[in-house]
Amino acid sequence: MNAIFRAMTADDAEAVATLEAQCFAMPWSREDFWRETRNELATYIVGELDGQVVAYAGAWVSFEQAEVMHVAVEPKFRGQGLGTLLFGALIEAVKLRGATAITLEVRPSNTPAVKLYESFGLHSVGRRRGYYLDNGEDALIMWNTKL
Ligand SMILES: CC(C)(COP(=O)(O)OP(=O)(O)OC[C@H]1O[C@@H](n2cnc3c(N)ncnc32)[C@H](O)[C@@H]1OP(=O)(O)O)[C@@H](O)C(=O)NCCC(=O)NCCS
Repeated sequence: MNAIFRAMTADDAEAVATLEAQCFAMPWSREDFWRETRNELATYIVGELDGQVVAYAGAWVSFEQAEVMHVAVEPKFRGQGLGTLLFGALIEAVKLRGATAITLEVRPSNTPAVKLYESFGLHSVGRRRGYYLDNGEDALIMWNTKL
């Protein structure tokens, strides 16, 4: 897939928020993403196909630790390897900022996401009970401490 990955800019906030609303039960707003482009801790990237933003991912990097905030691919482009390219690009971006470990929370029912993260060496180290407010689902806490 001929995707291009680059840093998210303030001009992307609208397109990213539109994707976010398609992908998540409790979506962030355009303003939330705009703010992330001003957040010194945040590293956000977008993936483009034919000049259209079809994927995005972001993490907060503090010292050597990256905490993933978002990973998403437009529904019609899923299952074709784009998420793998996207997450790989995010890992490269946080490593450039000095991260040597990466962590995130994910719904145990989200099989594509769990498989994606496992393919990058993350593994589950525990659960946060009732973490997701929309349905009370637990979160798996995943880590890779050797980026
Ligand atoms: C998670 C997500 C980013 C994956 O994107 P994608 O483009 O489908 O990812 P890929 O095609 O690279 O596939 C990644 C892995 O998921 C698996 N997968 C993809 N679709 C799947 C499906 N419907 N059922 C089961 N596994 C699936 C692939 O086999 C692959 O696993 P592998 O590396 O072991 O082969 C995408 O499903 C998404 O945007 N979901 C909604 C947002 C979300 O839940 N984000 C994660 C929040 S923590």
